[in-house]
Amino acid sequence: MVDQLHALRDAALADIAAAPDAAALGALRIKYLGRQGALATLSDGMKTLTKEERPAAGKALNETRNALTAALESRDAALTAQGESAALAGVDLTLPGTPTVPLGSLHPMTQLLDRTVQIFRRLGFALADGPDIDDEFHCFDALNTPADHPARNEQDTFYLPDGRLLRTHTSTVQIRTMETQGPPVRIIAPGAAYRRDETDATHLAQFNQVEGLCVDAGVSLADLKGTVEFFLKELFGLQTKVRFRPHFFPFTEPSFEVDLQSPALGGKWLELAGCGMVDPAVFAAVNQSRGDDAYDPEKISGYAFGFGLDRLAMLMADLPDIRLLIENDVRFLAQFAG
Ligand code: PHE
Repeated sequence: MVDQLHALRDAALADIAAAPDAAALGALRIKYLGRQGALATLSDGMKTLTKEERPAAGKALNETRNALTAALESRDAALTAQGESAALAGVDLTLPGTPTVPLGSLHPMTQLLDRTVQIFRRLGFALADGPDIDDEFHCFDALNTPADHPARNEQDTFYLPDGRLLRTHTSTVQIRTMETQGPPVRIIAPGAAYRRDETDATHLAQFNQVEGLCVDAGVSLADLKGTVEFFLKELFGLQTKVRFRPHFFPFTEPSFEVDLQSPALGGKWLELAGCGMVDPAVFAAVNQSRGDDAYDPEKISGYAFGFGLDRLAMLMADLPDIRLLIENDVRFLAQFAG
């Protein structure tokens, strides 16, 4: 019986080594190891053996079963590996893939806004918000802009039939913030502003601003200059030069326009923002609206600024036309993916 087992093992190992595919291997497994397979048939013969013959025969039987099982497994692994390399034959794994879902990216204005918020957050500024549709009090009166001021002209602004208007600047948020919270205040308020401008390469009827307001005891013009300069150097690099040019805004005194010059921008001075020290008349309007004296100009002072965000984006991306920012042409926008 031991000889028969050895003969069976040799024949089976040869068959297994020659099996061409998984199906043939499966058939061999049944043929040799199946319930009615060759090994089972042989082991039936155990009954006819003498007591002395049985241990050797039993041992040979186990060895044969183990040998066949191991051979089947390793042939199966070899066939699988062969199949995989055949499937990959002729495939260049270094070729770029075929994208099925194009990856989106953030709009350049959103990227700029995120950076702006990050920079001011490092300086301790919180985010504030206000409505796009506001009243004349928050847009003009509280900001020391009298009824006969040209900015209130219907030609300059979008008025609603009920007398409210699309805010002409984000300075409305200065008032709304101080109405609801006492000093110290340190906020930025990014958002849309609206004017009845003819749309052209440098003007949009809806554009974006970032308002800033800092009110505390002892806030000075030096703080304003330092903050604005830090922000612009973070955005445009340390070689950026910043210039404060005297100007007029009803709600700040003194007031300035901020110009910027950098080698990367061709060395020209470019106008970017308005700013100044909060006019005491603004604090008076806020106090009156609050019904207290929280913003006492004898005790506190503050600065405010308003940046044109679209203008900054145009400078950063060297855009010839502001309308590129709102056309949503993917061929243009895809350049800013990253
Ligand atoms: N609101 C002004 C504008 O839109 C900018 C500004 C903001 C000026 C804050 C001074 C202080 O032109």
